[in-house]
Amino acid sequence: MTNVHEKVVELAKRRGIFWPSYEIYGGVAGLYDLGPIGLRIKNKIVRLWRKFFIEDNDDMVVEIETPLVTPSRVLEASGHVENFTDPIVECKKCGRVFRADHLVEEALKINAEGLKPEDLTRLIREHDLKCPVDGGELGEVRLFNLLFRTQIGPYSSSVGYLRPETAQGMFTSFKRVYETFRQRLPLGIAQVGRVARNEISPRQGLIRMREFSIMEVEFFIDPESGESPPFERVKGERLKVLTASEKEKGGSPSEFDVEELVTERIVVNPWMAYWMAVASRFVKALGIKDFYFEEKLPHERAHYSRQTFDQIVLVKGEKVEISGHAYRGDYDLNRHSSFSGEDLSVFRKYEQPKVVKRKSVVVNKEALNKEGKDFVKEFMSRLTKMSPEEVEEALRRGETIDGRPIANYVTIAEREEKVHGEKFIPHVVEPSFGVERSLYLAILNAYSERKDRTLLLLPKEIAPYQVAVFPLLEREPLISKAKAIYERLRTEFETIYDDSGSIGRRYARVDEIGVPYSVTVDPQSLEDNTVTIRDRDTWNQVRVKEEDLITALRKLLYDNARLESVGIPVSGTHE
Ligand code: ATP
Ligand code: GLY
Repeated sequence: MTNVHEKVVELAKRRGIFWPSYEIYGGVAGLYDLGPIGLRIKNKIVRLWRKFFIEDNDDMVVEIETPLVTPSRVLEASGHVENFTDPIVECKKCGRVFRADHLVEEALKINAEGLKPEDLTRLIREHDLKCPVDGGELGEVRLFNLLFRTQIGPYSSSVGYLRPETAQGMFTSFKRVYETFRQRLPLGIAQVGRVARNEISPRQGLIRMREFSIMEVEFFIDPESGESPPFERVKGERLKVLTASEKEKGGSPSEFDVEELVTERIVVNPWMAYWMAVASRFVKALGIKDFYFEEKLPHERAHYSRQTFDQIVLVKGEKVEISGHAYRGDYDLNRHSSFSGEDLSVFRKYEQPKVVKRKSVVVNKEALNKEGKDFVKEFMSRLTKMSPEEVEEALRRGETIDGRPIANYVTIAEREEKVHGEKFIPHVVEPSFGVERSLYLAILNAYSERKDRTLLLLPKEIAPYQVAVFPLLEREPLISKAKAIYERLRTEFETIYDDSGSIGRRYARVDEIGVPYSVTVDPQSLEDNTVTIRDRDTWNQVRVKEEDLITALRKLLYDNARLESVGIPVSGTHE
């Protein structure tokens, strides 16, 4: 971990943002508690995601909640029991187990994602790579399944797993949601929920956890509809994209208009571009400005995906995937359809009914009834196994049964029929964000230092509180007046009150958790009923009348007003 990670982890513990779970028992790698401040920020991030992905698209997207515990059959159908694996390698000396692709990547500075175990073993042997801890010899690379296995109920034969993604809940309940939601496509089913992945070496704090929350949309479409996404909703969004072909050449990302991604055929379906643009807006709302979308090479993609872009953010010199955008096609619904035996197709209505010619077999009963019972039985059992086209072909070839030409007993009739549509399995576009990873990256991005002090320059929308209220000094009547103001503000804003320690310490505390504005009651307040508002980012202050305070805060918080526009500047900085 770099220094800034250590500082963020330290700040997170000190201020109740997050810390290792079960700490009093020594903790467990990859499991974290969110504290009171962390949970407030997380809830706001989820709220913001819901706004961008669900509310702003609520003519197409609905939200559901499905269980964490999943019967094995579902994850067999989804392919996770077979394919949800990472390569591992064990040190023969100390017995430690490492993620083989990461070990190779770190030692050789190459991209080893998606390489087969035998290729990783070969690289380890060729370059004589050793255990990074004690230099011991490394064994053969093998695959390790990341699913947490459990048992459902008292019978050991009833195997279950904790879900590794929420997506399967949306696929298995697709038909029901489709039927309750106007029976039309496109239809997005969203879910925010816990998932578990038995990661091999979760060392990077909230970036790689063993249990975390995920925010996903499974967006079901008709791949042949030709209906354009509502690009006007993401107007002006420009996306930096590193295409697979550029990546293979060692190139760098280029910038595109959203619709250009479609016309230049960079995305396999226009909805990929739409949801990537929405993701771009969401990540900017987290305060993160520097990011791009990187297309995965075929061998790097998950088993279900036909095209994937990772959204990579660059924060404090580090590149981290914040979201994945996969074109899952009809893979999942097809698999669930064949594993469950349920028809998961939907009906595509033609604009104009099509007239099709249908053939049917007409039996000449009179001729057949003249034959013996055994012959009729044999004849009918053969006939019922054949399609009209097969019977027609048999007639053409002059086939016989028991030496008698079948043409004696059947003819083919043709009639015209109006068809109004056809069945098909919807395709799926999936944007998927990790919640805690988003939280961590937003905090890392917001982390800043000024004059030996730490600040979280979080966007107002995800700050744990909107306003803090303080008396300048820890004494009456300043305290009573500050408390009265606090009681008033808390009915409208998320407000925190603090009267312990020096005012400098209190400002420092709220700066550290990213509260954008502080309201202070000072001796002048007692004389003229004014208070000061301090800006977290500049440490500047203005003085406003108490009666104007709520309006001023509304302007600052919701209209992006400048501090100087809501009151009279107070000279000096207020640390
Ligand atoms: P990685 O390559 O980092 O393992 P992934 O490609 O497996 O991630 P996805 O399966 O696409 O990730 O998961 C969707 C999102 O969930 C990721 O973009 C990330 O934000 C989050 N995520 C994935 N794995 C973890 C984890 N172990 N801990 C926290 N968040 C995670
Ligand atoms: N649902 C996509 C993923 O978690 O991998």
